[in-house]
Amino acid sequence: RRQRRDRLLALLERTAAYYVRVLWESPEAEEARAYLQSRGLEEGALRAFRVGYAPDTWDRVVLGSRKAGYGEGELVAAGLASRSSRGTLIDRFRGRITFPLADERGRVLGFGARAMKPDDKPKYLNTSESELFHKGRIVYGADLARAAAAKAGRVVLVEGYTDVIALHQAGVPEVVAQMGTALTDAQVDAIARLAPKALFCQDPDRAGQESVAKGIAALRTHNKGRSTRAVEFRIVRLPLGEDPADVVQKAGAERMRELLEKAIPIERFEVERALEQPDSSTDDMLSAIKPIIASMSATLLRDELVRLVADRFAMRPELVNQLLQAPDTRQ
Ligand code: CTP
Ligand code: MN
Ligand code: MN
Ligand code: MN
Ligand code: MN
Repeated sequence: RRQRRDRLLALLERTAAYYVRVLWESPEAEEARAYLQSRGLEEGALRAFRVGYAPDTWDRVVLGSRKAGYGEGELVAAGLASRSSRGTLIDRFRGRITFPLADERGRVLGFGARAMKPDDKPKYLNTSESELFHKGRIVYGADLARAAAAKAGRVVLVEGYTDVIALHQAGVPEVVAQMGTALTDAQVDAIARLAPKALFCQDPDRAGQESVAKGIAALRTHNKGRSTRAVEFRIVRLPLGEDPADVVQKAGAERMRELLEKAIPIERFEVERALEQPDSSTDDMLSAIKPIIASMSATLLRDELVRLVADRFAMRPELVNQLLQAPDTRQ
């Protein structure tokens, strides 16, 4: 059992190293290198994350691994190959940029693999769930972020692989990604182990904002748990349509770091969001804001938020305070 697991880990490790070699040394990866360069990603950062290239052939990994003594069953169990309809074993990742997905100790458990052309679907192909690989338990970049997060006392949480690498390269090494999907409890726990503070820096699109809302809920639940380390979190607002990797590439590292420093507390994020609802009446907005303000103690932030609401409706802050304290009479 133990031995089987160790063999699968070794197989994944050598495959990660193989993809890295192909990316930097093989003529067949020329397009991949050009693509990564066009994204503004630099060799140093790409090497730190062991980004590689899976050649566009049917069975290069299968053949190499078999030669090294691995069996077909092991290749399938490691998520590196699958059986074709004709019964032959073929590589899972072909003609894609590979991002090794490692556990907190840096052991490769699987891969995310990006297509290089927009019409190549899916954009990202990941290792499927298996005895070894559970995407929901991995926080991308946690192994590399650990020391920096401890030193900075915070961790920046982004959506994707390229965001992590771009921020790392922009002088923010305390960065990890949840990899697109909703933040899982296991991921929240892993984040809590990295630092007592987290900055949410999700894509400024609908999916990203939903992910922020779910992440807030997951972190609040975590913080209510008695035996766990609480995480204080803030929200980073990005320019419309630009994820962190885009900001770094277009506006530069300095600008990205400024945006991180401007992160806002969760309550402000929620009040602003309520005020931004396009077809919401004043009453609707106020009743959305009420529970947020009601849960806060009398702080400067609370006063600031009351003023924000007052400005928005051109009312006196005293009146807003009254309205926010009045019982909700709507159905
Ligand atoms: N993701 C995934 N599978 C998909 C789409 C997304 O696993 N089919 C994960 C990846 O970890 C990806 C992250 O969700 O990095 C965020 O997705 P998205 O914002 O669409 O991609 P980017 O990371 O911005 O990638 P790129 O900039 O290369 O388009
Ligand atoms: Mn996204
Ligand atoms: Mn927890
Ligand atoms: Mn992106
Ligand atoms: Mn993105």
